[in-house]
Amino acid sequence: MTTEPMTLPDTAWFTAFRRRALRWYARHARALPWRRSRDPYRVWLSETMLQQTQVETVIGYFDRFLQALPTVEALAQADEQDVLRLWEGLGYYRRARQLHRAAKVLVAEHGGRFPCDPSVVRDLPGIGRYTAGAVLSIAFDARQPILEANTLRLWSRLLGFDGDPQSGEGQRLLWAAAEAVLPRRGAGRLNQALMDLGSQVCASRTPRCDSCPAASCCRANQEGRQADIPRPKAKPPVEAVREAAVVVLRGDRVLLIRWPEGRRWAGLWDFPRFTMTAATPAAVRRELVENVRAMTGMSVVPGQRIHALTHTVTRFRIRLECYRAEPISRDRTVTPTVEMRWVRPTALNGYPLSSTGRILSGLIAAC
Ligand code: ADE
Repeated sequence: MTTEPMTLPDTAWFTAFRRRALRWYARHARALPWRRSRDPYRVWLSETMLQQTQVETVIGYFDRFLQALPTVEALAQADEQDVLRLWEGLGYYRRARQLHRAAKVLVAEHGGRFPCDPSVVRDLPGIGRYTAGAVLSIAFDARQPILEANTLRLWSRLLGFDGDPQSGEGQRLLWAAAEAVLPRRGAGRLNQALMDLGSQVCASRTPRCDSCPAASCCRANQEGRQADIPRPKAKPPVEAVREAAVVVLRGDRVLLIRWPEGRRWAGLWDFPRFTMTAATPAAVRRELVENVRAMTGMSVVPGQRIHALTHTVTRFRIRLECYRAEPISRDRTVTPTVEMRWVRPTALNGYPLSSTGRILSGLIAAC
């Protein structure tokens, strides 16, 4: 049996819904720092930070970043280390590196001005369909649609779409709705209204349909299917991983490594760190020695375990054990796989570190 693809509601439905959403937004818009201005650099920065990160978390980072790097020119000229330090704690560091690269392109090829042409914007590093639509609509009021987590949920429920929102059919339908609703003028305002309505009212687990301005035109609400729409994402199972971090101390300095391109923490500094499989204390010592040597070319004598913690990164639940070690020699036959630097503990604050690296740096500073 084949099922007909779902079609969009008629123009009258979109007109009525748009009016309700805008009326609601006029009373309930959140006063967010990036809404104080339509400067495309600010809008772009906020939208990049908001990819995969909650509004509440982004607020402090946004203000701090802008204070340090207030213009696209300042960002383009900044050292990548400083950009990553400002981003430290937000996660998904690729976003910061791409933002930095895109700023350089904007300055070198566009006179520091954010282009208005969607296809040119989409060519910039780190800018996908969502971010391009958000920046162009909010900064320039271009009639460009957006679809992110909040509006994807909102549209799925409004239309009663119970398929997979990430499927080809789901994406076509939901993007088409996001486009059909846009007015000729005021697309940026409407897009922001939809994001706020999605996050503040059409919440994931407990939608507040009683106070929703669109309840009467929402298919999921009419059919009582809010809890089943959108269809939940199939989440990969959580994987348990055991890792070791090694604090190699030489006099008053500690060894830092910089994660190379292609690694999760690319560009960030850390203590030498690797996956551990050893079960006995003797095997742990052997594994520490071998891994530190393979990574840095340094022969070390492992010391005491100084800390252990558990943290979650994407789908990995990582138990991290931290050991001290003393360097004894450098094995010149081994080419290090990472950049390295001996750093005074007091200087660690200036380095962008992985989240666990930052925790360990606090322990070292306290020693
Ligand atoms: N989520 C992503 N972009 C947003 C914005 N501009 N306002 C509120 N929430 C958002």
